Amino acid sequence: MSQTNSETRDAYVELRGVNKKFGDFYASKDVNLSIPKGRLVGLLGSSGSGKTTILRMIAGLETPDSGEIIIDGRVVNDIPGSERGIGFVFQSYALFRYMTVYDNIAFGLRVKKVDSATIDKRVCELLKLINCDGLEERFPSQLSGGQRQRVAFARALAPNPQLLLLDEPFAAIDAKVRLELRTWLRNMITQLGITSIFVTHDQDEAIEVADEIIVTNQGRVEQTGTPRELYVNPKTPFVASFIGNTQPIANYDRFQFFCKKGPETRAIIRPEFVEVFKKGENRQFLKSAEEGVVEDVIFRGSSLEIKVRIHDVVISSSRSINDSILEIGEPVDVFIYRLIIVDGDKIVVQDNKSLREESVVI
Ligand SMILES: Nc1ncnc2c1ncn2[C@@H]1O[C@H](COP(=O)(O)OP(=O)(O)OP(=O)(O)O)[C@@H](O)[C@H]1O
Ligand SMILES: [Mg+2]
Repeated sequence: MSQTNSETRDAYVELRGVNKKFGDFYASKDVNLSIPKGRLVGLLGSSGSGKTTILRMIAGLETPDSGEIIIDGRVVNDIPGSERGIGFVFQSYALFRYMTVYDNIAFGLRVKKVDSATIDKRVCELLKLINCDGLEERFPSQLSGGQRQRVAFARALAPNPQLLLLDEPFAAIDAKVRLELRTWLRNMITQLGITSIFVTHDQDEAIEVADEIIVTNQGRVEQTGTPRELYVNPKTPFVASFIGNTQPIANYDRFQFFCKKGPETRAIIRPEFVEVFKKGENRQFLKSAEEGVVEDVIFRGSSLEIKVRIHDVVISSSRSINDSILEIGEPVDVFIYRLIIVDGDKIVVQDNKSLREESVVI
């Protein structure tokens, strides 16, 4: 079936006006989304925001109350999940515990009655791909968490799906291995070019793994964009507060070079909007900097978080561990580059006015 809508012509997966209720509760409310072929898309939202429900409807494990699910130009609402060409990797019970690695990977092919020589070839190929050759006779309990999830990935890929759905596949894995798996998964999917939807509630994970992120909130899609677009240009108050390390500030006009847009407006600040200078360290923003005092210095591994008090508000900034040391109680100059202003349901990014004025001493 050909698509007529130019906006969605190259979409591989599309949801149009999808609603799903459990009792009186909308788990999906007027969900519209469009995922181009070959794209790795992250579905990001807090717990209960409806991510798994969207994935289960695409996979055919749940039926929408209304709206259309379209895969490769075909409305699949009435097509069973097993005929949709989808591979699924879940967070838990990802593998059959009483089957060997080999049998786990072979499972989908056996269901399809593929002959055993072809199965053998495919399983060996996948074991190599996931760097697990030699482990085919092991049971899942004899694997590390990372190996288990890689085998789950191979099992999902075995029948050559056109679409891969991953529901928090690394949630149960410890932090360091999780970081390695993210990079591994990203490279793997890019190499295979398979359209993939990756669910997570961890924004660092979404940002690192996905080409594009769909933000869900209370069953709705809030915003879709590249990680950078969501960071730089949040379109809703929810996204503005949810993405990044955000802090609300009510009376933001207390900062020089920012003016209150209206009595009901509030601002959101993030550490990357703020730079803290040791006294005399920087002359560029000398006249437009705020006077601040260091409240706390927190080691964050690859950087330092500096909490600084300006008037009666404490804000955070990040600082390289290679920069000169700041002491608690030390007076500092603080330059605020921008604020995100929330005005009802509108979002405006306000730059520090001095960046446009001659008052900046360069
Ligand atoms: N089978 C069900 N019966 C009743 N309510 C359900 C069912 N499945 C999901 N829900 C409800 O729908 C909402 C969305 O659930 P969903 O599992 O899609 O959220 P999620 O974004 O995946 O959350 P998490 O990050 O915790 O996995 C939740 O409030 C959940 O309780
Ligand atoms: Mg979920």
